[in-house]
Amino acid sequence: MGRDLSQAKSSWLAKINRTLSVAPMMDCTDRHCRYFHRLLSKNLLVYSEMIVDRSIIFGDRERLLSFNPKEHPIAIQIGGNDPKLLAEATKIAIDFGYNEVNLNVGCPSSRVNSGNFGAALMKNVDLVSECVEAMVRAAGNTPVSVKSRIGVDNQDPEEILPSFISKVRDSGCNTFIIHARKAILKGLSPKENRKIPPLNYPIVFEMQKYFPDLEIILNGGIKSLAEAKNHIGKKVVGVMIGREIYENPSILINVDRDIFDKGGLVSNMDDVLRSMIDYCDNEMSQGFNIDHVLKHLKGAFKGTPTSKKFKRVVFSRELSDLEKLNAIKTLLN
Ligand SMILES: Cc1cc2nc3c(=O)[nH]c(=O)nc-3n(C[C@H](O)[C@H](O)[C@H](O)COP(=O)(O)O)c2cc1C
Repeated sequence: MGRDLSQAKSSWLAKINRTLSVAPMMDCTDRHCRYFHRLLSKNLLVYSEMIVDRSIIFGDRERLLSFNPKEHPIAIQIGGNDPKLLAEATKIAIDFGYNEVNLNVGCPSSRVNSGNFGAALMKNVDLVSECVEAMVRAAGNTPVSVKSRIGVDNQDPEEILPSFISKVRDSGCNTFIIHARKAILKGLSPKENRKIPPLNYPIVFEMQKYFPDLEIILNGGIKSLAEAKNHIGKKVVGVMIGREIYENPSILINVDRDIFDKGGLVSNMDDVLRSMIDYCDNEMSQGFNIDHVLKHLKGAFKGTPTSKKFKRVVFSRELSDLEKLNAIKTLLN
């Protein structure tokens, strides 16, 4: 496959606004968390946690893939390295209604690395290219994106990144989310790999210059919307933020106005939490444990005097579900 398919795909790009997205994060960005973020912004693009292709094909699909229709626009991130399995998983995900399918080429965990996918794939560009090509064919009109690092181990990003992008673009991918640091596959834990290798934004900006027709999305270490705004549309098409949004979700208040330039949609955390209480009521009525929802709200009041009290309620072992929801109500204005 050459540029034809890639060019055809560019016409679909307009459908997804990638100005600002929430990073895929294992054990964080599940359906409850995404619903919460969606209440804070109608425009953000949200991502699933990484789901391995085999789990999608052979596992409990309903549990792994289902989501609330209000979460749209939503992307699924898939982990794998077998074009056939990735294509099958892509088809299944699209039948569930995901708006974008993303291939993980950035996860450095030893489990993922020993399966030779995630960041380890940066050492095998031809295989990434085959995987993406198979996914693009399976995806039909739905865009396929790649999330990568700037390189791994002793690779030279200046050398590897342009050739990686160029090759994978030729397989039909027009969107590259780049975590702007290397992954060190041996010797650093996943957590250390999100901190220790230094951030290198300039190389990501360079990629946007080299490939002006592609959507390059900068990820890594961005702490505020003001910082994001400095990059968006100037140096890269979009920005992806992970930890800061998860730990301090109130940075999303006003995001629709300040980043997406949409008026009249400003939310406040108290109203959002009232909606989350309704959401929890509904989860409870279906027999689900609301602790799985509440844990994602823990940072809602970060930096305010309410934060400590709120977290005490959220993580209480003494209070029943109902008591927790009532206690949260009393903390809201
Ligand atoms: C708890 C946690 C889990 C993560 N899980 C994934 C994952 O499943 N897939 C992925 O591509 N990146 C994953 N990441 C990396 C983030 O997507 C992101 O690239 C990284 O945190 C850097 O962005 P940030 O500095 O804005 O957090 C994870 C990060 C964290 C903190």
